Amino acid sequence: MTNQLTHPKIILDTDPGGDDIYAFLWLLGLVKQGLAELVAVTSADGNVAAKRTFSSASQILNLAGFPQIKVGRGVPIKGEIIEDAGHIHGADGMGNLSHTLPPATHNFEEARYSDEIIIDELNAAPGEITIVAIGPLTNLAAAEKKSPGILKKAKEIVIMGGAFFCPGNVTPHAEFNIWFNVEAAQTVFDSRDDIVVMPLDVTRHLIFTRDMTQAVTQANPESKLSQFLTALCEFMIGTALGYRETAGIPGLLVHDAATLGYLFYPETLMLKRAKVRVETKGEWTLGQTSIDSRPAPKTGANAWVALQVDEDKFFTSFVEDLKHLFTTSDS
Ligand code: BDR
Ligand code: CA
Repeated sequence: MTNQLTHPKIILDTDPGGDDIYAFLWLLGLVKQGLAELVAVTSADGNVAAKRTFSSASQILNLAGFPQIKVGRGVPIKGEIIEDAGHIHGADGMGNLSHTLPPATHNFEEARYSDEIIIDELNAAPGEITIVAIGPLTNLAAAEKKSPGILKKAKEIVIMGGAFFCPGNVTPHAEFNIWFNVEAAQTVFDSRDDIVVMPLDVTRHLIFTRDMTQAVTQANPESKLSQFLTALCEFMIGTALGYRETAGIPGLLVHDAATLGYLFYPETLMLKRAKVRVETKGEWTLGQTSIDSRPAPKTGANAWVALQVDEDKFFTSFVEDLKHLFTTSDS
């Protein structure tokens, strides 16, 4: 009997992003070990515009030796364009390093939209595919609107988003992925009763240090992949220190990687059963996520929310899995 827990089929919905790239590479390290299957990457509008996140996804796949994996183009967000996070991740979302990498080989104009890929893959394998969503939830919500009930066909949906008992990172109350498209976030929370959530409450503890990056790249420091990760780490350290995110420690917050910690090393996290609500109208609190912590039965719960993480165990596994990608990479 195959053990599905250790070999999940995954769709990665992402808006690269420095921390997306660390998570992406962790996942590819797991794929390389035969511990996961990456069905598709569905790129999303978010940290930077959809055309750029699509190209970044393609460049990462090529660099890490997985050019055959399909990439979806992000569904455009309706309404006015809101502020992206280029000031955090670089204008290209990749620490302004995209020009140092081999160009994207996937074609944006000809690519299928991410919501269509999600719908088709879930219909083709109901109950088998886990969606790991580490950007704004526009693609997932678009799939649900187009094909109501489709998200229930995922084995599990694990998202990075929200801030419950801590400040936000894009406003005093809101976390970026939720805030960027609040309606989409609420649609996803309404889609099923077991959304798994990795909020800032845990991800603010996840500092991937310069030393860890060196430990990963040291087996093959001259490879393109190592040189890229080293330069990305330095760029993100500059941002993290500038925005006082890491208490002066030279490293970056790898928010998005928490989703993979949950899937592959669940013993590193403590989760709480909860009903998550998204503030979709607040003047000062737009994008705030809340749960009811009062001691009453959790009727109507729609989520499992991570509130504690064992950082040491988390990073031990993260670093060791990443090394697999770098020691065998000749790119
Ligand atoms: C989230 O926002 C983005 O900037 C990061 O990539 C991450 O997904 C953290 O709030
Ligand atoms: Ca992200």
